[in-house]
Amino acid sequence: MLTIRQATLNDLDAITEIYNDAILKTVATFDTEPKTLEEQKSWFASHGPKYPILVAEQDGTIVGWASLSMWSDRCAYSDTAEISLYVEETHRGKGIGKKLLEAILQEGKKAGLHTVIARITAGNDISIRLAQSAGFEHIGVMKEVGRKFGKLLDVHLLQKIYD
Ligand SMILES: CC(C)(COP(=O)(O)OP(=O)(O)OC[C@H]1O[C@@H](n2cnc3c(N)ncnc32)[C@H](O)[C@@H]1OP(=O)(O)O)[C@@H](O)C(=O)NCCC(=O)NCCS
Repeated sequence: MLTIRQATLNDLDAITEIYNDAILKTVATFDTEPKTLEEQKSWFASHGPKYPILVAEQDGTIVGWASLSMWSDRCAYSDTAEISLYVEETHRGKGIGKKLLEAILQEGKKAGLHTVIARITAGNDISIRLAQSAGFEHIGVMKEVGRKFGKLLDVHLLQKIYD
């Protein structure tokens, strides 16, 4: 059975493991070095009721996570967040990402956010389609802003504005 719930500090090891795997194997994130638990603790601490983190738990194992992070520390941006969404490799393609996405967007709405931005690397068509199915609109492309695994990469910007 799959449960989606608020993340706690006890989940941080599993969240970090899923994220570090994506850092090392994918261009979904432009981080290039695995995160330490210390770095992750400060990431966790920068979240809370307004900027939530959710985990997907299946039979006691964390199989994915999603977060809404502060877009900028300049105060006028405080109702804008950036989404992150990661599912453990062997659990992808089973509907978990979609459920996490719907749940984190609901949390953002409850928290009073006005808009959510997604930065999605060119070629990650699954994520682009998934975001669009949840109401994100394509608002632009940042050309050649990242370099990973020896390749220059574009980033698509998508945005959802809450009604
Ligand atoms: C992107 C990601 C979060 C999606 O999570 P997921 O659990 O694999 O996705 P789901 O099973 O919920 O599928 C979501 C949609 O994508 C489609 N999809 C998923 N995997 C697919 C695949 N390999 N090929 C084609 N379509 C696929 C599903 O059919 C579904 O579409 P539908 O709603 O029209 O049926 C996950 O693949 C992941 O963690 N990828 C690596 C990290 C990443 O790219 N994160 C996003 C950064 S912006």
